[in-house]
Amino acid sequence: MEFKDRLNNYIREIDGYLKVFFPREEDIPRDIIEAMEYSIFAGGKRLRPILLIEGAKSIGGNIKRVLPLACALEMIHTYSLIHDDLPSMDNDDFRRGKPTNHKVFGEGMAILAGDGLLNYSYELMINNIPKDIVEMKNYIEGMKEIARAAGIMGMIGGQVKDLEYEGKDMDIDTLHYIHSHKTGALIRASLRAGAIASGANNNELTALTIYGEKLGLAFQIVDDILDIIGNVAKLGKPIGSDKDNKKLTYPNIYGLEESKAIIDRLLSEALEAISIFGSKAKFLEELGVFICKRDY
Ligand code: IPE
Ligand code: IPE
Ligand code: MG
Ligand code: MG
Ligand code: MG
Repeated sequence: MEFKDRLNNYIREIDGYLKVFFPREEDIPRDIIEAMEYSIFAGGKRLRPILLIEGAKSIGGNIKRVLPLACALEMIHTYSLIHDDLPSMDNDDFRRGKPTNHKVFGEGMAILAGDGLLNYSYELMINNIPKDIVEMKNYIEGMKEIARAAGIMGMIGGQVKDLEYEGKDMDIDTLHYIHSHKTGALIRASLRAGAIASGANNNELTALTIYGEKLGLAFQIVDDILDIIGNVAKLGKPIGSDKDNKKLTYPNIYGLEESKAIIDRLLSEALEAISIFGSKAKFLEELGVFICKRDY
């Protein structure tokens, strides 16, 4: 099967699991469920859950076991997008090809929809802790990995600096911090959580960590480039947002060509790291190339 077909099948599968795991108790206010569903089922590449499952697969892990972690991670990612788009943050009107959450439901409900997704993601992970003691231990370590990467040591830390440095002067260390935290942390955690929950050994975990770190950074550099030269219809979100908000980005500091060269270098380092898995990491290899060459 072609890579693109496999990717699309994967996306459909993840969408199905998200539906299964989504809260549906009768006494939840209808409005919050509607706002949460609006953003999570609006499309999206589902890269983080896919990476988490592939991290598990590359070491022969039990996929069913890690599905709650994979879906929780997508919920956390989607909450981060809803909040990232708010007027007080990037103030963007389109996401995943549709008006942003706050444009449809209002700011208060968008904040709550993000909070709802974030909280529920932890409930989902906790409710699916395996009973077997070894599996339980690994799974909880996987959960910790996600919690840390989503929080102030990871994504939130990156978003803080991203806001703080709007309009400020070039500073390469800060730029690297912002990109490897606001975006890199969750991508790195995707691979690590899947592997840790599946009982990876040190060599396997190191290889997947390098792959995740390199591609996590490359992912955001591509995002920066697409914010300049991307196609709005394809991207499903506006371009020029970084310029409007005076963000610190790779193309701003290194220029477009040098930024692309950095992406190529990161990609080859990522692929080199996972070569130890041989054919088991075939899809991860193709996914790495896709992440770096994508136009959406
Ligand atoms: C967008 O992430 C936000 C960043 C971290 C750059 P994605 O490009 O993965 O967004 P979706 O999930 O496909 O919508
Ligand atoms: C966002 O980075 C990273 C998040 C934690 C959501 P951007 O602000 O560049 O992401 P987009 O371009 O809005 O998707
Ligand atoms: Mg942002
Ligand atoms: Mg943004
Ligand atoms: Mg961006």
